[in-house]
Amino acid sequence: MNGPATFYTLHLFNLKIKGMLNKKVEKALNDQIKVEAESSQAYLAMACWAEINGYPGTSAFLYAHSDEERMHMMKLIRFVNDRGGKAIIAAISEPAKEFKNLQNIFALLLSHENKVTAAINNVVDVCLKEKDYTTHNFMQWYVSEQIEEETLAHHIIDQLNLIGNDKGALYFIDRDIATLKGGVAGAEKGAKA
Ligand code: FEO
Repeated sequence: MNGPATFYTLHLFNLKIKGMLNKKVEKALNDQIKVEAESSQAYLAMACWAEINGYPGTSAFLYAHSDEERMHMMKLIRFVNDRGGKAIIAAISEPAKEFKNLQNIFALLLSHENKVTAAINNVVDVCLKEKDYTTHNFMQWYVSEQIEEETLAHHIIDQLNLIGNDKGALYFIDRDIATLKGGVAGAEKGAKA
């Protein structure tokens, strides 16, 4: 029985599904959208600094990382809107633009990622409290992503600590960093496969 009546019923059903996003969960997701936007801008500013200070590898890594954060933000925006909520594009704070060196950049990056992890854990917590298991399931991708990102940042910091102030080694590390996007996690996954 196709026809206008069926279409109308389906439309109402879709609206009902779309109207299902819990308000507290929606607020937590919108807070996370802002966090991801700030991450993208923070890494973009770092990429610019690296680019004009002679670190092309790190710059390429950070440009890619900034793009990835924007993708994290977009994924949340689409989810909120698809689930009947309203994604909010909020004003964000201006990121730092001056850095001491690569060690300083990656220490800041790791510290920022630790805060992102805490923010994601908060969204997961709200989902559990509100019994929103669909969003809880969606957020598991972010939980895994944070493990990979923190591991990657630790790996780069370890490498930088090893070489200290050796300028020659810094040149090679910068070159290696360009190839690292997802490299550590990818290599570990490959080793386990
Ligand atoms: Fe989207 Fe690096 O957290």
